[in-house]
Amino acid sequence: MGPAARRLLAAVTTPLLPQDYVDLVAPLANPATLRARVEAVLPETPDAATLVLRTGRGWRGHVPGQYVRIGVDIDGVRRWRAYSITSGPRDDGRITITVKAIPGGLVSTHLVRRAAPGTLVHLDQATGDFHLPAPAPQRVLFVTAGSGITPVMGMLRHHGLELADVVLVHSAPTAQDVVFGAELSARAAAGQLRLVERHTAREGILAPADLTRLVPDWRQRETWACGPIGMLDALEGHWAAAGLAERLHTERFRSQVLVAGAGGEVTFTGAGRTVIADGATPLLDVGETAGVLLPSGCRMGICMGCVRPLRSGAVRDLRTGALTTAEPGDGVQVQTCVTAAAGACALDD
Ligand SMILES: Cc1cc2nc3c(=O)[nH]c(=O)nc-3n(C[C@H](O)[C@H](O)[C@H](O)COP(=O)(O)OP(=O)(O)OC[C@H]3O[C@@H](n4cnc5c(N)ncnc54)[C@H](O)[C@@H]3O)c2cc1C
Ligand code: FES
Repeated sequence: MGPAARRLLAAVTTPLLPQDYVDLVAPLANPATLRARVEAVLPETPDAATLVLRTGRGWRGHVPGQYVRIGVDIDGVRRWRAYSITSGPRDDGRITITVKAIPGGLVSTHLVRRAAPGTLVHLDQATGDFHLPAPAPQRVLFVTAGSGITPVMGMLRHHGLELADVVLVHSAPTAQDVVFGAELSARAAAGQLRLVERHTAREGILAPADLTRLVPDWRQRETWACGPIGMLDALEGHWAAAGLAERLHTERFRSQVLVAGAGGEVTFTGAGRTVIADGATPLLDVGETAGVLLPSGCRMGICMGCVRPLRSGAVRDLRTGALTTAEPGDGVQVQTCVTAAAGACALDD
């Protein structure tokens, strides 16, 4: 459409824009607002499901192992969470994510229990550096637990046949809890990988020292690990002690909250709203609960997508306990996803 025709159409559709009408009938067609439609919800385990998403115009694709942020509107508030893409890149623009419902988890429970084919979700471009390099290393070790299998599944599905020597050590409470259990076994039977399944209800959680017995050549392998914070901390310590820290790549699904202090009154200057917050809840969550949507990304202190200026007052970094203060008029940049109120404070939303 030429500029003159576009102007004419805009005049006819005022006060809405032509794109608003397109959005009504074809919500995936607007490249400025990336969205996806849920095409199927496939149960994986009693508390995990795979969502097949048809991405809209503007989707730039992904590298297997990367994650995507999904925005869902729950009770009138848009909640963004990150989910690893479990499919390889496909020409038809479909991707899959696999979500484990966490007890009390707002978005995970919503996606697993309530999302239905036809549901529209908001989407960001894929991001993250938890993926294989090109060319892939000769010998690969994956260490995963629970839903930490998801980014690795994306890699296995895409690179499975081209990887020469792969060992996957995966932990889950029981065989029934292994997400993708049947597919992993089938890939192992087809010779694509050596699978070591650890059922922690019976065998206890994996200690890094167990790898000496399970994967005797672990030192010679490039390793990718994803799972609970405790497992990743232990693996990082083990690799560092062996002088191999740079050969271990980890992906964390949540940041570790070490310190919580007293909270205080939080004022969001743009919305002009003041709420009481405790000293453990990130300002990002405080804002969302109060209906003040702040920008965000990984929600775990990595991407800097949530940085906002603190105009006055005191806040605490939940990972380190470090206190940051601002005098009225200051604009000290803080990461709202890992920072909580430490007294009265005012923040630009
Ligand atoms: C890079 C990245 C990739 C991710 N990929 C996946 C994935 O592929 N599949 C998947 O299921 N999840 C994945 N996650 C986790 C996901 O983003 C959400 O954190 C998770 O679904 C919980 O969100 P919620 O809204 O249900 O819980 P919330 O309502 O935010 O939290 C409810 C309670 O659960 C706790 N909680 C929050 N997150 C977790 C967690 N991950 N594990 C245990 N307890 C938690 C909170 O502390 C709180 O007490 C990923 C996270 C990141 C950062
Ligand atoms: S959302 Fe990524 S650092 Fe805060």
